[in-house]
Amino acid sequence: MSLEYAKNDWYAVADIFCLRDGPRRTRLLETDITVTGPAEDATVTDDQGNRYPVQLKFDHVWTTLGDSPRPLFDIPEGDEEGRRRVPCGVVRVNCSPLRAVENFLDIAHFPFVHTDILGSEPHTEVSPYKVAIREESDEVWATQVKFFQPQAAKSAGDGIVTDYDYRVPAPTVAVLYKTCPPKPEAQDVIAIFVQPVSETVSDVWPWMALYDDASTFSEMAQFQHEIFVQDRSILENQRPVKLPLDPKMEIPTRADMTSVAYRRWLKKRGAFYGALRDGA
Ligand SMILES: [Fe+2]
Repeated sequence: MSLEYAKNDWYAVADIFCLRDGPRRTRLLETDITVTGPAEDATVTDDQGNRYPVQLKFDHVWTTLGDSPRPLFDIPEGDEEGRRRVPCGVVRVNCSPLRAVENFLDIAHFPFVHTDILGSEPHTEVSPYKVAIREESDEVWATQVKFFQPQAAKSAGDGIVTDYDYRVPAPTVAVLYKTCPPKPEAQDVIAIFVQPVSETVSDVWPWMALYDDASTFSEMAQFQHEIFVQDRSILENQRPVKLPLDPKMEIPTRADMTSVAYRRWLKKRGAFYGALRDGA
């Protein structure tokens, strides 16, 4: 059941660069697939010769294995003129795809995991913020999140209080909108697109759409990649491996409000792939 549900979402399975080196052999929802380029004209096939639908969006190749896929969400800010769009490559993490998203939504770990970059001691307090499941779009949103950061972005100099909004438009996707140091009226966009290899293995594709004229492409990609590598060992050591949806299994704190809403939303949708269900 949960696998059938997951098959009807779209997943990033390649970025615009990786197919230049040849086809990508990979696994999506326990199915072996081959992604063949170029990205603008990519094909996705399995070993039985079945061909799956493809969309090129947010500098990634997206596919779905389902017969009646739900529509792929949009990130309209990504198309704004002047932004630099940075696919940051792929990071393999031995964790549930839902754990990868939940970790991306969690602010409280910044001072401890991303010390002196995204957070630092003694600035460890998470101020109150707002969390909602928006009915009209059926998305989870956390807004008015404020956090002190020593170096919020490659383009940031001294520490600043960064404003965040978090958005979950699909079970294995998280989008973050944050203070843009060189352009205060705009927000930088940073997302992770998680490719569920299985319920306990994830290929994570970070992607950014930033206003940053100073940094080189590889500096920006490297900054984000380093941050994600810092998360990897935390993610791989979480127990239980699958994300528990029963709130009684892990004690929520204020910083976890987004996580609580995310779990409730997964449960309501029946998005159980990568999750531990009640009593299971
Ligand atoms: Fe992190």
